[in-house]
Amino acid sequence: MKYGRFISLEGGEGVGKSTNLQFIKQFLEDRKIPFVLTREPGGTGVAETIRGILLERQAEKLTEQTELLLMFAARAQHIQELILPALQQGSWVICDRFTDATYAYQGGGRNMDVQTIAWLENLVQGDLRPDLTFVFDAPIEIGMQRAKHRGELDRFEIEQLAFFERVRQTYLHRAALNPQRYKIIDASLPLIDVQKQLQRELDLL
Ligand SMILES: Nc1ncnc2c1ncn2[C@@H]1O[C@H](COP(=O)(O)OP(=O)(O)OP(=O)(O)O)[C@@H](O)[C@H]1O
Ligand SMILES: [Mg+2]
Repeated sequence: MKYGRFISLEGGEGVGKSTNLQFIKQFLEDRKIPFVLTREPGGTGVAETIRGILLERQAEKLTEQTELLLMFAARAQHIQELILPALQQGSWVICDRFTDATYAYQGGGRNMDVQTIAWLENLVQGDLRPDLTFVFDAPIEIGMQRAKHRGELDRFEIEQLAFFERVRQTYLHRAALNPQRYKIIDASLPLIDVQKQLQRELDLL
């Protein structure tokens, strides 16, 4: 049976995930590989509606549990409606953030219980995991500096430095535990050098 590859892009705010998604897109086009580009939270109509709730700053505070469950609710929809059908048709799926972001932000950032996250991951994903995860890593200040030209801050971007430090360390920790799947990209370098690192990894696929 045809089965596409599933690649996720991870890392903190402004490290260059969305920028480098376009670089990967070019690589896939050059190789004539069918692909779908998508993002989390979001990726389908319903999941994008949930994204709106998650990112908007509103008067009513979202509880941590609500946030976590909405992340996985959006993900359940995204997987069933978009990711699995695409993979089953032989398309590659390139996703701007996936479940590692839940471990990093809700687990690391908000100190939520990792076992609970793992339980929800198994419930919603079965054995679906990305085949390859690029972790774009840079000091927090660099990402913040790059991202700050984008206007209003969302619900996550208003967090304190220590929150983002925990997010970064969680990504690095998870990557260290499974170097087969995770490739750390030094995102503090100029874009051309970031893309050289990516090219090297993509050439191995
Ligand atoms: N290596 C780089 N050097 C300098 N600027 C960069 C580099 N990579 C990306 N940028 C710029 O930094 C800004 C943020 O990049 P981008 O939107 O791709 O980050 P992101 O990881 O998707 O952020 P977010 O998590 O907020 O979605 C953009 O203006 C982009 O052009
Ligand atoms: Mg982005």
